[in-house]
Amino acid sequence: MVNQTKINELIEKRAKAKLGGGEKRIDSQHAKGKLTARERIDLLLDDDSFEEFDMFVTHRTKSFGLDKQKFLSDGVITGHGTIDGRIVYVFSQDFTVFGGSLSETYALKICKIMDMAMKIGAPVIGLNDSGGARIQEGVRSLAGYAEIFQRNIMASGVIPQISSILGPCAGGAVYSPALTDFTIMTDQTSYMFVTGPKVVETVTGEVVTTEELGGAHIHSTKSGVSHFLADNDEENILLVRKLMSYLPSNNLEDPPIIKCKDPIDRLEDALNEFIPENPNQPYDMVDVISSITDRGEFMEVHRNYARNIVVGFGRFNGRPVGIVANQPKYYAGVLDIEASRKAARFVRFCDAFNIPIVTLVDVPGFLPGTGQEYGGIILHGAKLLFAYGEATVPKVTITLRKSYGGAHDVMSCKQLRGDINYAWPTAEIAVMGAKGAVEVLEGRNINKIDDDQEKRDYISQKEDEYTKKFANPYEAAKYGFIDDVIEPRNTRFRIIRALELLANKKEVNPPKKHSNIPL
Ligand code: HXC
Repeated sequence: MVNQTKINELIEKRAKAKLGGGEKRIDSQHAKGKLTARERIDLLLDDDSFEEFDMFVTHRTKSFGLDKQKFLSDGVITGHGTIDGRIVYVFSQDFTVFGGSLSETYALKICKIMDMAMKIGAPVIGLNDSGGARIQEGVRSLAGYAEIFQRNIMASGVIPQISSILGPCAGGAVYSPALTDFTIMTDQTSYMFVTGPKVVETVTGEVVTTEELGGAHIHSTKSGVSHFLADNDEENILLVRKLMSYLPSNNLEDPPIIKCKDPIDRLEDALNEFIPENPNQPYDMVDVISSITDRGEFMEVHRNYARNIVVGFGRFNGRPVGIVANQPKYYAGVLDIEASRKAARFVRFCDAFNIPIVTLVDVPGFLPGTGQEYGGIILHGAKLLFAYGEATVPKVTITLRKSYGGAHDVMSCKQLRGDINYAWPTAEIAVMGAKGAVEVLEGRNINKIDDDQEKRDYISQKEDEYTKKFANPYEAAKYGFIDDVIEPRNTRFRIIRALELLANKKEVNPPKKHSNIPL
Protein backbone atom coordinates (compact mmCIF):
# COMPACT_ATOMS: atom_id res chain seq x y z
CA MET A 1 0.00 0.00 0.00
CA VAL A 2 1.32 3.43 -0.92
CA ASN A 3 2.07 5.58 2.03
CA GLN A 4 -0.36 8.53 2.29
CA THR A 5 2.56 10.92 2.83
CA LYS A 6 3.94 9.93 -0.52
CA ILE A 7 0.59 10.53 -2.15
CA ASN A 8 0.44 13.94 -0.53
CA GLU A 9 3.92 14.66 -1.84
CA LEU A 10 2.72 13.80 -5.36
CA ILE A 11 -0.35 16.01 -4.98
CA GLU A 12 1.83 18.87 -3.74
CA LYS A 13 4.30 18.51 -6.58
CA ARG A 14 1.47 18.49 -9.10
CA ALA A 15 -0.07 21.59 -7.57
CA LYS A 16 3.31 23.30 -7.66
CA ALA A 17 3.89 22.38 -11.30
CA LYS A 18 0.46 23.69 -12.19
CA LEU A 19 1.40 27.09 -10.83
CA GLY A 20 4.17 27.44 -13.43
CA GLY A 21 6.14 30.60 -12.67
CA GLY A 22 3.84 31.53 -9.80
CA GLU A 23 0.67 33.48 -9.16
CA LYS A 24 2.18 36.91 -9.79
CA ARG A 25 3.28 35.95 -13.25
CA ILE A 26 -0.05 34.26 -13.95
CA ASP A 27 -1.79 37.53 -12.99
CA SER A 28 0.49 39.45 -15.30
CA GLN A 29 -0.30 37.02 -18.12
CA HIS A 30 -4.02 37.58 -17.53
CA ALA A 31 -3.49 41.34 -17.34
CA LYS A 32 -2.11 41.22 -20.88
CA GLY A 33 -5.40 39.62 -22.01
CA LYS A 34 -3.69 36.25 -22.44
CA LEU A 35 -4.58 32.83 -21.06
CA THR A 36 -2.04 30.64 -19.28
CA ALA A 37 -0.50 27.62 -20.97
CA ARG A 38 -2.77 25.27 -19.02
CA GLU A 39 -5.93 27.29 -19.58
CA ARG A 40 -5.20 27.11 -23.30
CA ILE A 41 -4.86 23.33 -23.22
CA ASP A 42 -8.16 23.07 -21.33
CA LEU A 43 -9.85 25.11 -24.02
CA LEU A 44 -8.27 23.14 -26.85
CA LEU A 45 -9.00 19.60 -25.72
CA ASP A 46 -12.17 17.69 -24.92
CA ASP A 47 -13.05 17.84 -21.22
CA ASP A 48 -10.85 15.66 -19.00
CA SER A 49 -8.99 14.19 -21.96
CA PHE A 50 -5.55 15.68 -21.28
CA GLU A 51 -2.79 13.28 -20.24
CA GLU A 52 0.33 15.17 -19.31
CA PHE A 53 3.91 13.99 -19.81
CA ASP A 54 7.07 15.17 -18.11
CA MET A 55 5.50 17.41 -15.52
CA PHE A 56 8.48 16.86 -13.23
CA VAL A 57 11.17 17.79 -15.73
CA THR A 58 13.43 20.68 -14.78
CA HIS A 59 16.33 22.29 -16.60
CA ARG A 60 19.96 21.19 -16.06
CA THR A 61 21.70 24.56 -16.17
CA LYS A 62 23.89 25.67 -13.29
CA SER A 63 25.34 28.93 -14.62
CA PHE A 64 23.77 32.41 -14.16
CA GLY A 65 22.43 31.20 -10.79
CA LEU A 66 19.91 29.03 -12.54
CA ASP A 67 20.63 26.06 -10.25
CA LYS A 68 18.59 27.95 -7.65
CA GLN A 69 15.74 28.73 -10.03
CA LYS A 70 13.91 25.61 -11.12
CA PHE A 71 10.29 25.25 -12.09
CA LEU A 72 8.56 21.90 -12.55
CA SER A 73 7.70 21.38 -16.25
CA ASP A 74 10.43 23.88 -17.19
CA GLY A 75 8.23 26.26 -19.16
CA VAL A 76 6.36 23.95 -21.49
CA ILE A 77 3.35 21.71 -20.87
CA THR A 78 3.23 18.62 -23.10
CA GLY A 79 0.97 15.63 -23.55
CA HIS A 80 -1.99 14.34 -25.49
CA GLY A 81 -5.74 14.53 -25.41
CA THR A 82 -8.66 14.49 -27.79
CA ILE A 83 -10.49 16.93 -30.03
CA ASP A 84 -13.99 15.68 -30.86
CA GLY A 85 -12.82 12.29 -29.64
CA ARG A 86 -9.73 12.10 -31.88
CA ILE A 87 -6.24 11.95 -30.40
CA VAL A 88 -3.93 14.94 -30.78
CA TYR A 89 -0.57 15.75 -29.20
CA VAL A 90 -0.03 19.20 -27.81
CA PHE A 91 2.68 21.42 -26.37
CA SER A 92 1.86 24.69 -24.70
CA GLN A 93 4.62 27.17 -23.93
CA ASP A 94 4.37 28.73 -20.48
CA PHE A 95 5.41 32.38 -20.57
CA THR A 96 5.34 32.54 -16.77
CA VAL A 97 8.50 30.40 -16.61
CA PHE A 98 11.58 32.22 -17.94
CA GLY A 99 9.34 33.95 -20.50
CA GLY A 100 8.50 30.58 -22.04
CA SER A 101 12.08 30.45 -23.32
CA LEU A 102 13.35 27.16 -24.72
CA SER A 103 15.93 25.12 -22.81
CA GLU A 104 17.49 21.80 -23.74
CA THR A 105 15.09 19.79 -21.56
CA TYR A 106 12.13 21.84 -22.79
CA ALA A 107 13.06 20.93 -26.38
CA LEU A 108 13.36 17.27 -25.40
CA LYS A 109 9.83 17.37 -24.01
CA ILE A 110 8.49 18.70 -27.31
CA CYS A 111 10.52 16.18 -29.30
CA LYS A 112 9.13 13.35 -27.18
CA ILE A 113 5.51 14.15 -28.02
CA MET A 114 6.38 14.74 -31.68
CA ASP A 115 8.00 11.31 -31.87
CA MET A 116 4.97 9.70 -30.24
CA ALA A 117 2.61 11.55 -32.57
CA MET A 118 4.53 10.18 -35.54
CA LYS A 119 4.45 6.66 -34.12
CA ILE A 120 0.69 6.58 -33.75
CA GLY A 121 -0.23 8.95 -36.58
CA ALA A 122 -1.78 11.84 -34.63
CA PRO A 123 -1.63 15.60 -35.28
CA VAL A 124 0.66 17.91 -33.28
CA ILE A 125 -0.65 21.24 -32.08
CA GLY A 126 1.80 23.82 -30.75
CA LEU A 127 0.59 26.70 -28.58
CA ASN A 128 3.43 29.22 -28.85
CA ASP A 129 4.20 31.99 -26.36
CA SER A 130 7.93 32.26 -25.84
CA GLY A 131 10.91 34.60 -25.59
CA GLY A 132 12.86 32.22 -27.84
CA ALA A 133 16.13 30.48 -27.04
CA ARG A 134 16.83 30.42 -23.28
CA ILE A 135 19.77 32.77 -23.25
CA GLN A 136 21.48 31.10 -20.26
CA GLU A 137 21.63 27.76 -22.12
CA GLY A 138 23.42 29.08 -25.19
CA VAL A 139 24.04 26.59 -27.98
CA ARG A 140 22.18 23.79 -26.22
CA SER A 141 19.04 25.79 -26.76
CA LEU A 142 19.85 26.30 -30.43
CA ALA A 143 20.42 22.57 -30.77
CA GLY A 144 17.05 22.00 -29.12
CA TYR A 145 15.35 24.14 -31.73
CA ALA A 146 17.09 22.28 -34.53
CA GLU A 147 15.90 18.96 -33.06
CA ILE A 148 12.33 20.29 -33.27
CA PHE A 149 12.82 21.65 -36.80
CA GLN A 150 14.07 18.28 -38.01
CA ARG A 151 10.97 16.62 -36.58
CA ASN A 152 8.70 19.26 -38.14
CA ILE A 153 10.27 18.43 -41.49
CA MET A 154 9.92 14.66 -41.11
CA ALA A 155 6.32 15.04 -39.94
CA SER A 156 5.38 17.32 -42.84
CA GLY A 157 2.86 15.54 -45.05
CA VAL A 158 2.58 12.65 -42.55
CA ILE A 159 0.61 14.22 -39.69
CA PRO A 160 -1.11 17.62 -39.63
CA GLN A 161 0.87 20.21 -37.65
CA ILE A 162 -0.85 23.36 -36.43
CA SER A 163 0.75 26.37 -34.72
CA SER A 164 -1.15 28.84 -32.61
CA ILE A 165 0.85 31.98 -31.94
CA LEU A 166 -0.34 33.48 -28.69
CA GLY A 167 2.56 35.71 -27.65
CA PRO A 168 6.10 36.45 -28.77
CA CYS A 169 7.73 34.24 -31.37
CA ALA A 170 11.05 35.66 -32.49
CA GLY A 171 14.43 34.80 -33.92
CA GLY A 172 14.95 31.37 -35.41
CA ALA A 173 12.04 30.18 -33.26
CA VAL A 174 9.65 31.37 -35.97
CA TYR A 175 10.85 28.60 -38.22
CA SER A 176 9.11 25.83 -36.37
CA PRO A 177 5.65 27.36 -36.97
CA ALA A 178 6.74 28.17 -40.53
CA LEU A 179 7.47 24.48 -41.10
CA THR A 180 4.00 23.46 -39.91
CA ASP A 181 0.82 23.39 -41.98
CA PHE A 182 -1.21 26.20 -40.45
CA THR A 183 -0.36 29.22 -38.31
CA ILE A 184 -3.02 31.10 -36.37
CA MET A 185 -2.11 34.45 -34.80
CA THR A 186 -3.92 36.47 -32.17
CA ASP A 187 -4.39 40.17 -32.89
CA GLN A 188 -2.40 42.58 -30.69
CA THR A 189 -0.87 39.96 -28.37
CA SER A 190 1.16 37.83 -30.76
CA TYR A 191 4.02 38.63 -33.08
CA MET A 192 6.56 36.84 -35.24
CA PHE A 193 9.82 38.11 -36.70
CA VAL A 194 13.31 36.86 -37.47
CA THR A 195 14.89 40.01 -36.04
CA GLY A 196 13.13 42.38 -33.64
CA PRO A 197 12.63 46.16 -34.00
CA LYS A 198 15.83 47.03 -32.10
CA VAL A 199 18.06 44.97 -34.37
CA VAL A 200 16.22 46.28 -37.41
CA GLU A 201 16.95 49.84 -36.35
CA THR A 202 20.61 49.11 -35.61
CA VAL A 203 21.25 47.30 -38.87
CA THR A 204 19.09 49.22 -41.34
CA GLY A 205 18.13 52.42 -39.53
CA GLU A 206 14.47 51.61 -40.07
CA VAL A 207 12.28 52.53 -37.12
CA VAL A 208 9.34 50.17 -36.78
CA THR A 209 7.08 48.97 -33.99
CA THR A 210 6.65 45.35 -33.00
CA GLU A 211 3.12 45.39 -34.38
CA GLU A 212 4.19 46.92 -37.68
CA LEU A 213 7.07 44.51 -38.06
CA GLY A 214 5.45 41.22 -37.20
CA GLY A 215 2.00 41.64 -35.68
CA ALA A 216 -0.89 39.34 -36.47
CA HIS A 217 -2.45 41.83 -38.83
CA ILE A 218 0.71 42.21 -40.92
CA HIS A 219 1.25 38.46 -41.21
CA SER A 220 -2.39 37.89 -42.13
CA THR A 221 -2.49 40.54 -44.86
CA LYS A 222 0.99 41.27 -46.18
CA SER A 223 3.33 38.31 -45.67
CA GLY A 224 0.84 35.44 -45.61
CA VAL A 225 2.81 33.83 -42.75
CA SER A 226 -0.42 33.56 -40.74
CA HIS A 227 -3.33 31.60 -42.17
CA PHE A 228 -5.92 32.82 -39.69
CA LEU A 229 -6.34 35.96 -37.59
CA ALA A 230 -8.03 35.62 -34.21
CA ASP A 231 -9.28 38.40 -31.93
CA ASN A 232 -8.12 36.69 -28.74
CA ASP A 233 -6.70 33.47 -27.30
CA GLU A 234 -10.13 31.83 -27.04
CA GLU A 235 -10.94 32.44 -30.68
CA ASN A 236 -7.48 31.30 -31.74
CA ILE A 237 -7.82 27.98 -29.97
CA LEU A 238 -11.39 27.39 -31.12
CA LEU A 239 -10.16 27.90 -34.68
CA VAL A 240 -7.72 25.02 -34.13
CA ARG A 241 -10.59 22.77 -33.06
CA LYS A 242 -12.66 23.79 -36.07
CA LEU A 243 -9.75 23.30 -38.47
CA MET A 244 -9.15 19.82 -37.06
CA SER A 245 -12.72 18.83 -37.98
CA TYR A 246 -11.73 18.96 -41.67
CA LEU A 247 -8.45 17.06 -41.35
CA PRO A 248 -7.55 13.39 -41.12
CA SER A 249 -5.25 12.35 -38.28
CA ASN A 250 -2.53 11.36 -40.71
CA ASN A 251 -1.76 10.87 -44.40
CA LEU A 252 -2.98 7.26 -44.42
CA GLU A 253 -6.47 8.18 -43.28
CA ASP A 254 -9.32 9.98 -44.99
CA PRO A 255 -10.72 13.14 -43.44
CA PRO A 256 -13.66 12.57 -41.08
CA ILE A 257 -17.11 12.46 -42.68
CA ILE A 258 -19.79 14.22 -40.70
CA LYS A 259 -23.40 13.09 -41.25
CA CYS A 260 -25.20 15.81 -43.16
CA LYS A 261 -28.87 16.76 -43.18
CA ASP A 262 -28.50 19.31 -46.00
CA PRO A 263 -30.17 17.62 -49.02
CA ILE A 264 -27.66 16.56 -51.65
CA ASP A 265 -30.00 17.57 -54.47
CA ARG A 266 -30.76 21.03 -53.07
CA LEU A 267 -31.26 23.29 -56.11
CA GLU A 268 -30.01 26.85 -55.83
CA ASP A 269 -32.20 28.62 -58.36
CA ALA A 270 -30.47 31.93 -57.70
CA LEU A 271 -27.28 30.56 -59.24
CA ASN A 272 -28.94 30.39 -62.66
CA GLU A 273 -29.18 34.21 -62.57
CA PHE A 274 -25.96 34.78 -60.67
CA ILE A 275 -23.39 35.67 -63.33
CA PRO A 276 -23.80 39.35 -64.33
CA GLU A 277 -24.63 40.22 -67.97
CA ASN A 278 -21.59 42.44 -68.15
CA PRO A 279 -18.48 40.21 -68.19
CA ASN A 280 -16.50 42.88 -66.37
CA GLN A 281 -18.90 43.13 -63.46
CA PRO A 282 -17.53 41.53 -60.30
CA TYR A 283 -19.37 39.29 -57.86
CA ASP A 284 -18.41 37.62 -54.61
CA MET A 285 -17.22 34.06 -55.17
CA VAL A 286 -17.76 33.30 -51.48
CA ASP A 287 -21.52 33.68 -52.13
CA VAL A 288 -21.28 30.89 -54.71
CA ILE A 289 -19.28 28.70 -52.33
CA SER A 290 -21.68 29.12 -49.44
CA SER A 291 -24.67 28.40 -51.64
CA ILE A 292 -23.34 24.98 -52.62
CA THR A 293 -21.52 23.57 -49.56
CA ASP A 294 -23.25 21.70 -46.73
CA ARG A 295 -25.23 24.19 -44.64
CA GLY A 296 -23.42 26.99 -46.43
CA GLU A 297 -20.33 26.43 -44.29
CA PHE A 298 -16.91 27.49 -45.48
CA MET A 299 -13.74 27.83 -43.38
CA GLU A 300 -11.68 30.29 -45.34
CA VAL A 301 -7.90 30.03 -45.07
CA HIS A 302 -5.75 33.14 -45.68
CA ARG A 303 -8.92 35.25 -45.85
CA ASN A 304 -7.07 38.56 -45.75
CA TYR A 305 -4.09 37.63 -47.92
CA ALA A 306 -4.03 37.53 -51.75
CA ARG A 307 -7.75 38.12 -51.80
CA ASN A 308 -7.99 37.62 -55.57
CA ILE A 309 -8.06 33.89 -54.87
CA VAL A 310 -10.12 32.14 -52.22
CA VAL A 311 -9.05 28.91 -50.54
CA GLY A 312 -10.56 27.01 -47.64
CA PHE A 313 -12.46 24.01 -46.39
CA GLY A 314 -16.08 23.04 -46.85
CA ARG A 315 -18.10 19.83 -46.97
CA PHE A 316 -20.20 18.12 -49.60
CA ASN A 317 -22.58 15.52 -48.22
CA GLY A 318 -20.44 15.44 -45.08
CA ARG A 319 -17.19 14.86 -46.92
CA PRO A 320 -14.49 17.52 -46.35
CA VAL A 321 -13.03 19.16 -49.44
CA GLY A 322 -10.53 21.90 -50.14
CA ILE A 323 -12.02 24.65 -52.27
CA VAL A 324 -9.88 26.85 -54.51
CA ALA A 325 -11.71 29.65 -56.33
CA ASN A 326 -10.78 32.77 -58.22
CA GLN A 327 -12.37 35.84 -56.63
CA PRO A 328 -13.74 38.33 -59.21
CA LYS A 329 -14.41 40.79 -56.37
CA TYR A 330 -10.67 41.52 -56.02
CA TYR A 331 -8.60 42.51 -59.07
CA ALA A 332 -11.10 40.63 -61.24
CA GLY A 333 -9.75 37.36 -59.82
CA VAL A 334 -6.48 37.68 -61.71
CA LEU A 335 -3.65 35.29 -60.83
CA ASP A 336 -0.55 37.02 -59.46
CA ILE A 337 2.49 35.98 -57.44
CA GLU A 338 0.80 35.93 -54.07
CA ALA A 339 -2.39 34.24 -55.28
CA SER A 340 -0.36 31.53 -57.01
CA ARG A 341 1.72 30.82 -53.90
CA LYS A 342 -1.30 30.84 -51.64
CA ALA A 343 -3.28 28.42 -53.78
CA ALA A 344 -0.29 26.17 -54.53
CA ARG A 345 0.43 25.66 -50.86
CA PHE A 346 -3.22 24.87 -50.16
CA VAL A 347 -3.51 22.40 -53.04
CA ARG A 348 -0.39 20.59 -51.83
CA PHE A 349 -1.71 20.42 -48.29
CA CYS A 350 -5.00 18.91 -49.48
CA ASP A 351 -3.18 16.43 -51.68
CA ALA A 352 -0.87 15.35 -48.85
CA PHE A 353 -3.85 14.65 -46.58
CA ASN A 354 -6.33 13.00 -48.95
CA ILE A 355 -8.68 15.96 -49.12
CA PRO A 356 -10.41 16.23 -52.53
CA ILE A 357 -10.08 19.56 -54.30
CA VAL A 358 -13.01 21.46 -55.80
CA THR A 359 -11.89 24.31 -58.05
CA LEU A 360 -14.23 27.13 -59.10
CA VAL A 361 -12.84 29.06 -62.05
CA ASP A 362 -13.42 32.65 -63.11
CA VAL A 363 -10.00 33.94 -64.07
CA PRO A 364 -9.12 36.58 -66.66
CA GLY A 365 -5.47 35.47 -66.80
CA PHE A 366 -2.15 36.26 -65.13
CA LEU A 367 -1.45 39.82 -64.00
CA PRO A 368 0.83 41.44 -66.58
CA GLY A 369 3.70 43.87 -65.90
CA THR A 370 7.27 44.32 -64.79
CA GLY A 371 6.34 44.11 -61.11
CA GLN A 372 5.11 40.56 -61.62
CA GLU A 373 7.83 39.49 -64.05
CA TYR A 374 10.66 40.85 -61.88
CA GLY A 375 9.09 39.18 -58.87
CA GLY A 376 9.21 35.83 -60.67
CA ILE A 377 5.58 35.21 -61.62
CA ILE A 378 6.91 32.58 -64.01
CA LEU A 379 8.18 30.52 -61.09
CA HIS A 380 5.32 31.32 -58.74
CA GLY A 381 2.63 30.62 -61.32
CA ALA A 382 4.45 27.38 -62.08
CA LYS A 383 4.08 26.39 -58.42
CA LEU A 384 0.31 26.32 -58.76
CA LEU A 385 0.54 24.51 -62.07
CA PHE A 386 2.89 21.98 -60.49
CA ALA A 387 0.73 21.55 -57.42
CA TYR A 388 -2.39 20.76 -59.44
CA GLY A 389 -0.55 18.51 -61.87
CA GLU A 390 1.14 16.58 -59.06
CA ALA A 391 -2.02 16.15 -56.97
CA THR A 392 -3.59 12.70 -57.04
CA VAL A 393 -6.64 13.37 -54.84
CA PRO A 394 -10.04 13.68 -56.57
CA LYS A 395 -10.17 16.94 -58.50
CA VAL A 396 -13.48 18.47 -59.58
CA THR A 397 -13.41 21.71 -61.54
CA ILE A 398 -16.33 24.00 -62.37
CA THR A 399 -15.78 26.91 -64.76
CA LEU A 400 -18.26 29.66 -63.99
CA ARG A 401 -17.21 32.43 -66.32
CA LYS A 402 -13.77 33.38 -67.63
CA SER A 403 -11.01 30.85 -68.09
CA TYR A 404 -8.41 32.40 -70.27
CA GLY A 405 -4.95 31.54 -71.47
CA GLY A 406 -2.28 30.11 -69.16
CA ALA A 407 -4.58 30.67 -66.21
CA HIS A 408 -7.08 28.24 -67.79
CA ASP A 409 -4.43 25.54 -67.89
CA VAL A 410 -3.26 26.25 -64.34
CA MET A 411 -6.71 26.13 -62.73
CA SER A 412 -7.07 22.35 -62.66
CA CYS A 413 -7.84 21.82 -66.34
CA LYS A 414 -8.55 18.39 -67.80
CA GLN A 415 -4.98 17.82 -68.98
CA LEU A 416 -3.59 18.42 -65.47
CA ARG A 417 -5.48 15.27 -64.53
CA GLY A 418 -8.68 17.08 -63.62
CA ASP A 419 -11.05 14.16 -62.97
CA ILE A 420 -14.35 15.88 -63.62
CA ASN A 421 -14.48 19.23 -65.39
CA TYR A 422 -17.84 20.95 -65.70
CA ALA A 423 -18.72 24.39 -66.97
CA TRP A 424 -21.68 26.69 -66.54
CA PRO A 425 -23.33 27.93 -69.77
CA THR A 426 -21.81 31.34 -68.95
CA ALA A 427 -18.25 29.98 -69.20
CA GLU A 428 -15.79 31.59 -71.62
CA ILE A 429 -12.89 29.23 -72.24
CA ALA A 430 -10.41 30.68 -74.70
CA VAL A 431 -6.84 31.82 -75.23
CA MET A 432 -7.77 35.37 -74.29
CA GLY A 433 -10.73 37.75 -73.97
CA ALA A 434 -12.40 39.21 -77.06
CA LYS A 435 -10.82 42.67 -76.69
CA GLY A 436 -7.25 41.40 -76.53
CA ALA A 437 -7.82 38.84 -79.26
CA VAL A 438 -9.24 41.39 -81.70
CA GLU A 439 -6.35 43.80 -80.99
CA VAL A 440 -3.85 41.10 -81.90
CA LEU A 441 -5.65 39.45 -84.80
CA GLU A 442 -7.17 42.55 -86.39
CA GLY A 443 -4.51 45.15 -85.55
CA ARG A 444 -3.41 45.57 -89.15
CA ASN A 445 -7.00 45.95 -90.46
CA ILE A 446 -7.98 48.31 -87.64
CA ASN A 447 -5.03 50.59 -88.39
CA LYS A 448 -6.12 50.90 -92.01
CA ILE A 449 -9.46 52.53 -91.00
CA ASP A 450 -9.23 56.31 -90.65
CA ASP A 451 -12.72 57.17 -89.49
CA ASP A 452 -13.05 56.75 -85.70
CA GLN A 453 -16.67 55.65 -85.69
CA GLU A 454 -16.01 53.16 -88.45
CA LYS A 455 -13.03 51.87 -86.47
CA ARG A 456 -15.16 51.39 -83.35
CA ASP A 457 -17.88 49.61 -85.30
CA TYR A 458 -15.36 47.29 -86.91
CA ILE A 459 -13.77 46.43 -83.55
CA SER A 460 -17.16 45.84 -81.98
CA GLN A 461 -18.26 43.60 -84.84
CA LYS A 462 -15.04 41.55 -84.64
CA GLU A 463 -15.33 41.27 -80.84
CA ASP A 464 -18.89 39.98 -81.21
CA GLU A 465 -17.76 37.43 -83.77
CA TYR A 466 -14.92 36.28 -81.47
CA THR A 467 -17.22 36.11 -78.44
CA LYS A 468 -19.76 34.01 -80.31
CA LYS A 469 -17.11 31.62 -81.57
CA PHE A 470 -14.83 31.27 -78.57
CA ALA A 471 -16.25 32.87 -75.42
CA ASN A 472 -18.44 29.92 -74.49
CA PRO A 473 -18.04 26.48 -72.95
CA TYR A 474 -18.98 24.52 -76.07
CA GLU A 475 -15.73 24.94 -77.93
CA ALA A 476 -13.91 23.20 -75.03
CA ALA A 477 -16.76 20.71 -74.61
CA LYS A 478 -16.48 19.85 -78.29
CA TYR A 479 -13.03 18.44 -77.65
CA GLY A 480 -13.97 16.73 -74.38
CA PHE A 481 -11.92 19.20 -72.31
CA ILE A 482 -15.15 19.94 -70.45
CA ASP A 483 -17.09 16.81 -69.48
CA ASP A 484 -20.47 18.52 -69.36
CA VAL A 485 -22.12 21.91 -69.36
CA ILE A 486 -24.32 22.05 -66.28
CA GLU A 487 -27.13 24.23 -64.99
CA PRO A 488 -25.66 26.44 -62.28
CA ARG A 489 -28.48 25.66 -59.82
CA ASN A 490 -27.54 21.99 -60.01
CA THR A 491 -23.88 22.56 -59.09
CA ARG A 492 -24.06 21.18 -55.54
CA PHE A 493 -25.62 17.92 -56.68
CA ARG A 494 -23.18 17.48 -59.57
CA ILE A 495 -20.19 18.06 -57.29
CA ILE A 496 -21.49 15.60 -54.71
CA ARG A 497 -22.07 12.94 -57.33
CA ALA A 498 -18.61 13.53 -58.77
CA LEU A 499 -16.97 13.26 -55.35
CA GLU A 500 -18.85 10.08 -54.56
CA LEU A 501 -17.81 8.61 -57.86
CA LEU A 502 -14.19 9.52 -57.13
CA ALA A 503 -14.15 8.42 -53.51
CA ASN A 504 -12.07 5.33 -54.30
CA LYS A 505 -9.88 6.99 -56.89
CA LYS A 506 -6.36 5.56 -57.00
CA GLU A 507 -3.67 7.42 -58.84
CA VAL A 508 0.03 7.27 -58.09
CA ASN A 509 2.92 9.35 -59.31
CA PRO A 510 6.12 7.66 -60.53
CA PRO A 511 8.57 6.67 -57.76
CA LYS A 512 11.12 9.38 -57.00
CA LYS A 513 13.04 10.82 -54.08
CA HIS A 514 10.98 13.98 -54.27
CA SER A 515 9.85 16.37 -56.94
CA ASN A 516 11.60 19.61 -57.76
CA ILE A 517 8.73 22.10 -57.48
CA PRO A 518 9.88 25.53 -58.72
CA LEU A 519 10.62 27.31 -55.44
C1 HXC B 1 15.76 33.63 -20.78
C2 HXC B 1 14.00 35.07 -20.83
C3 HXC B 1 14.04 35.10 -22.25
C4 HXC B 1 15.04 34.32 -22.91
C5 HXC B 1 12.45 36.37 -21.60
N1 HXC B 1 13.01 35.88 -20.48
N2 HXC B 1 13.09 35.92 -22.68
N3 HXC B 1 14.85 34.34 -20.12
N4 HXC B 1 15.87 33.60 -22.12
N5 HXC B 1 15.12 34.28 -24.22
C6 HXC B 1 12.61 36.14 -19.12
C7 HXC B 1 12.89 37.57 -18.70
O1 HXC B 1 14.19 37.68 -18.22
C8 HXC B 1 11.86 37.76 -17.60
O2 HXC B 1 12.32 37.15 -16.44
C9 HXC B 1 10.69 36.95 -18.08
O3 HXC B 1 11.21 36.03 -19.05
C10 HXC B 1 9.63 37.77 -18.76
O4 HXC B 1 10.26 38.61 -19.72
P1 HXC B 1 9.98 40.16 -19.81
O5 HXC B 1 11.05 40.74 -20.62
O6 HXC B 1 9.76 40.74 -18.44
O7 HXC B 1 8.58 40.15 -20.55
P2 HXC B 1 8.04 41.15 -21.67
O8 HXC B 1 8.28 42.56 -21.25
O9 HXC B 1 6.66 40.72 -21.95
O10 HXC B 1 8.96 40.89 -22.95
C11 HXC B 1 8.93 39.63 -23.58
C12 HXC B 1 10.06 39.56 -24.61
C13 HXC B 1 11.41 39.91 -23.98
C14 HXC B 1 9.76 40.55 -25.73
C15 HXC B 1 10.03 38.15 -25.18
O11 HXC B 1 11.55 39.15 -22.78
C16 HXC B 1 12.56 39.61 -24.87
O12 HXC B 1 12.87 40.41 -25.77
N6 HXC B 1 13.23 38.50 -24.62
C17 HXC B 1 14.40 38.12 -25.37
C18 HXC B 1 14.00 37.65 -26.72
C19 HXC B 1 15.16 37.11 -27.49
O13 HXC B 1 16.01 37.90 -27.97
N7 HXC B 1 15.28 35.79 -27.53
C20 HXC B 1 16.29 35.15 -28.25
C21 HXC B 1 15.87 35.18 -29.68
S1 HXC B 1 17.00 34.35 -30.66
P3 HXC B 1 12.05 37.77 -14.99
O14 HXC B 1 12.71 36.81 -14.06
O15 HXC B 1 12.67 39.12 -15.00
O16 HXC B 1 10.57 37.83 -14.87
C22 HXC B 1 16.39 32.84 -30.67
C23 HXC B 1 17.24 31.92 -31.44
C24 HXC B 1 16.45 30.73 -31.79
O17 HXC B 1 15.43 32.54 -30.14
C25 HXC B 1 17.28 30.02 -32.79
C26 HXC B 1 16.60 28.87 -33.37
C27 HXC B 1 17.34 28.42 -34.59
